[in-house]
Amino acid sequence: MTTIRTDRRRILLINGHPDPHPDRLCSALATAYGEGAEAAGHTVRRIEVGGLSLAPITSQAAFMSAPDPEVAEIQAAVREADHLVMIYPLWLGAPPAVFKAFLEQVFRYGLALAAPGEAKGVKGLLGGRSARVVVTMGMPGFIFRLVFFAHGLKCVSRGLLWISGVRPVREMALGPAESPSPAQRLRWIARMRRLGAAAI
Ligand SMILES: Cc1cc2nc3c(=O)[nH]c(=O)nc-3n(C[C@H](O)[C@H](O)[C@H](O)COP(=O)(O)O)c2cc1C
Repeated sequence: MTTIRTDRRRILLINGHPDPHPDRLCSALATAYGEGAEAAGHTVRRIEVGGLSLAPITSQAAFMSAPDPEVAEIQAAVREADHLVMIYPLWLGAPPAVFKAFLEQVFRYGLALAAPGEAKGVKGLLGGRSARVVVTMGMPGFIFRLVFFAHGLKCVSRGLLWISGVRPVREMALGPAESPSPAQRLRWIARMRRLGAAAI
């Protein structure tokens, strides 16, 4: 059973699917999470990565430079949030390129990690926040974990969020998700609504 939190949380809900169409499972999962959270009194801001057009970072200098206003505004939303939810499909074993470009643009030095020279070793800047990472995929979730070591999930949950100080980072691998039975889809959506209500 999911425990409902009594404190109100500021949730940043990121649909990382390049196609933001509401029929996509990722969009439906994000909607369910957001509805559950808002019904329980939490504040939700949603970002549709598929509605943006952010180019990948192409140099260390660009990664260390100040972001443009559109990205700076998203960074402000990350700073304001106390819980991050990222939902994306597995494409070729990894996050889709459009979502990866979004992560490179937003989570650059100064937001997620202190820039080299500004701290000793690796210093995460996103402490005090929790996160949930949800990945949908064509294969069964257990194959993804057993055979592929959940690589396309860990690169975000550990390679980005955990190293940036986010705790806890909860993970979900949902599959097979290309054409799930209506009952399975409803179960996943109901679960996301419950997790949203609990803001975890
Ligand atoms: C370009 C592309 C690459 C994909 N690569 C993988 C993959 O490597 N492994 C996998 O299990 N599923 C893969 N899939 C299936 C998607 O993960 C699946 O269709 C998606 O998670 C379903 O969610 P959606 O309805 O939100 O798109 C791929 C799909 C596309 C379109």
